[in-house]
Amino acid sequence: MKIKSTLFILTLLAFSTLAQQSTEQWRPAIHFTPKKNWTNDPNGLIYINGNYHLFFQHNPKGNEWGNMSWGHAKSKDLLHWEELPVAIPHGKEYIFSGCVVYDKDHVSGLGDPKKPLLIAIYTADYPNTLQEQHLAFSNDEGLTWTKYDQNPVLSINLKDFRDPNIIYHEASKQFVMTVVKPWEYTAQFYGSTDLIHWKLLSEFGPQGDVDMIWECPSLLELPVENSKETKWVLALSSQGPYKKTVGMQYFVGNFDGKTFTNDAPKEQVNYVDYGRDFYAAIPFYNTVNKEAFWLGWMLSWSYGKEQPTFPWKGQMSLARTLSLKHTSQGLKLKQVLKPDLTKQKPSYEAKNLVLKGSKTLSGIKFLQSKTYVIELKVDATNAKQWGIELGDEAKENPELTRIGFDEKSQDWFIDRRLSGVVPAPGFDMIQSAPFIPGEDKVMQLVVDRSTVELLAQDGVVAISSLRFPKKKESVRLVSIGGELRIKELRIWEVK
Ligand code: FRU
Repeated sequence: MKIKSTLFILTLLAFSTLAQQSTEQWRPAIHFTPKKNWTNDPNGLIYINGNYHLFFQHNPKGNEWGNMSWGHAKSKDLLHWEELPVAIPHGKEYIFSGCVVYDKDHVSGLGDPKKPLLIAIYTADYPNTLQEQHLAFSNDEGLTWTKYDQNPVLSINLKDFRDPNIIYHEASKQFVMTVVKPWEYTAQFYGSTDLIHWKLLSEFGPQGDVDMIWECPSLLELPVENSKETKWVLALSSQGPYKKTVGMQYFVGNFDGKTFTNDAPKEQVNYVDYGRDFYAAIPFYNTVNKEAFWLGWMLSWSYGKEQPTFPWKGQMSLARTLSLKHTSQGLKLKQVLKPDLTKQKPSYEAKNLVLKGSKTLSGIKFLQSKTYVIELKVDATNAKQWGIELGDEAKENPELTRIGFDEKSQDWFIDRRLSGVVPAPGFDMIQSAPFIPGEDKVMQLVVDRSTVELLAQDGVVAISSLRFPKKKESVRLVSIGGELRIKELRIWEVK
């Protein structure tokens, strides 16, 4: 009997390990993933002493959301990440999203005054009861943290009140925290000179897209391209361009140290990214020359649980430098990859190509490496659709991820209807973003295994998308229903 039941248990175990086979073929090479277990939002992004630090919503014990703590990784170049021990473990409270600031003048009076001091302010979540803003400090560049013994530093006795993000506002000589009341579609701004005592400055909202709760806000001052001007941007996570699924939106306006005013009509909505896999992005703090850049969680709450990867679940996007650009549709957020992966000599280059139909870029061995950047500049076309196809060559049931431009609808798109594993219903869809008239038809595409990021028209159009191919892919250049005149095609292998 004993032997029988042991055998039974062993068989069960064998099956459950089989079901949980590792899926390293989908692990991106230059996008951060935790070695194992779950991640969602990036937290506490900061640059200090030559390192970029990424803290992240993390379940240290499992491959699903839970036990929310802050994981930690650092990088010198935003491409190679070294994972470090869990930074802020949960206690009775879950450690939800938040930020890290460098208290270079030790205004908080916490920790060792002789050592550099980092302050984390995050949401402490008491499930279904209360969310308030807590502080922890670190004197060792974020490796270990002490939770402040007089927490909370900010509470308004609300069940949902979260995701603080802090900047230092030079003009008013204070720290400004942006935090949201999710169900009221409202961002609040608080001011402080010591990072401990916070005073309400003003509120913003409801405006823009108010179909889903607001989360993870950030306030940024961004340069306007080709001018000496800067504008303030309030970015936040909410509903994206697809009904009832998450995404990010932004407002462009001014911030005077107290109030944020939106330049656009209240109803106007600006989406950050037209893919379904870009959420909760926040900017880095303390950057060189105050350069603004961020990265986001590259997954969606709609199917996060079902992401078919093991032993990790969840990944970050690449970092993107932010600015604003005057376009025929007004000021638009422009996102450019950081670092620039196209600085080196391209691994493949072609000029003035004329294409009809489809051309497999065969013989280019590096495309098998599955991490590459493709840049395509189009001259003119009378095709109905053109772009890049990633997929196998099968005649029946081919596997395909299609990325490109539709001339009829004037949309950029990533079509993942046939891209491989469909982790949840509705995943298999076309994600599309409207063309901004007056700009060139230029696309930059990064393919890093399961992640695909399209930045088109010099970064004023973004589509970020996952896909989980089952087969080995080739890369094809396609022009459907007409001719495509390509000014320039360049491909870089990312080593
Ligand atoms: C956004 C979010 C935040 C919250 C965190 C919890 O994805 O819901 O609002 O702080 O995730 O993990």
